Amino acid sequence: MSPSKQLPLFPQEIGAQTIFPSTRFQGSKRKHIEWIRENMTRHEFDSVLDVFGGTGIVSYLFKMMGKEVTYNDMLTFNWQIGLALIENAEVTLSPEEVDDILTHHNTVDYPDFISRTFGDIYFTDEENYWLDVVIHNINGLIDNRYKQALAYFALFQACIIKRPYNLFHRANLYMRTADVSRSFGNRITWDTPFESHFRAFVDEANRAVFDNQRDNRALNLDAFETPVGADLVYLDPPYVNAQKVGVDYRDFYHFLEGITHYDEWPQMIDYKSKHKRLLPVPSVWTNAATILDAFDTVVARHRDSMIVISYRDDGIPSQAQLIDMLKTYKSQVVTAMLPQKYVLSKRHSHELLLIA
Ligand SMILES: C[S@@+](CC[C@H](N)C(=O)[O-])C[C@H]1O[C@@H](n2cnc3c(N)ncnc32)[C@H](O)[C@@H]1O
Repeated sequence: MSPSKQLPLFPQEIGAQTIFPSTRFQGSKRKHIEWIRENMTRHEFDSVLDVFGGTGIVSYLFKMMGKEVTYNDMLTFNWQIGLALIENAEVTLSPEEVDDILTHHNTVDYPDFISRTFGDIYFTDEENYWLDVVIHNINGLIDNRYKQALAYFALFQACIIKRPYNLFHRANLYMRTADVSRSFGNRITWDTPFESHFRAFVDEANRAVFDNQRDNRALNLDAFETPVGADLVYLDPPYVNAQKVGVDYRDFYHFLEGITHYDEWPQMIDYKSKHKRLLPVPSVWTNAATILDAFDTVVARHRDSMIVISYRDDGIPSQAQLIDMLKTYKSQVVTAMLPQKYVLSKRHSHELLLIA
């Protein structure tokens, strides 16, 4: 394989955290990206597969390091981030295109699914209508898939930032609208119009687009279906805590996942739930009884690659279980622990990288 090419566009001192757009997505490795970079520069590899890509910050780091990157995430809304910032090498959204997306075109017959379905749940009536219009415009007026992905990226970040707790797990619009103390929560951010957030996130995303002269890809597959053959495979699956509660990303962000399936969304909703979530889909990654086997299956699939697992040592499976499993496939397993200088909270758990 050819050696990694030098990154042409960014001076070395600019880190991924500086350029990568801000996000409030749960479980993002953004805070630890510099430490991950330090660890990854110690190893030789040219191609990398990020199986649980999420916000894409780790794929983005690898892209900055000049590697050939395959980003993957099973959720379609996350995949848009991979398309926009990892696979995309040069396309950006122009100010005219942004204006077009944000315009209510009188000649267009707009659908109203969000307005009809999500009243008083997450956003105001006016905001729900805005969402129906903008989603229809992104799908109907923009035909380049990377431009669409950039627009979706900006839309999702805007939706997340306007939500209490940055999630969609409860019908709690009232927290925004109740007449409570002005100092409460992020009232100013919540009340900032969608349009302002959207424009700001498009700018951030446009600035993050770059070409590392490699053939990078973004995939939307289940972890068990991901292509084999990368030199390094990075695994950062959902976290299951000691109380056996797993982070169900599809449930936390069901509203964004629904947006990416706008036409089929009505058939995907669990109408019995107050917050109109998607019908649940069980996952081996959020279940304490199955997660170790799930790790085993994915590691076995990628046994010929170097494996790097991001892990917190107070979760399930235990660190010892994971290391034992890795040792059935790999002769050498090393553990790197996040140094204290990066630890912002007083959590007693440790952030680890298991490198096999
Ligand atoms: C802990 S997050 C990854 C965070 C990411 N490393 C970052 O820094 O943003 C786990 C991700 O796995 C994805 N995911 C969950 N189940 C999956 C599966 N079966 N196959 C692929 N991706 C999955 C979720 O959508 C979520 O984005």
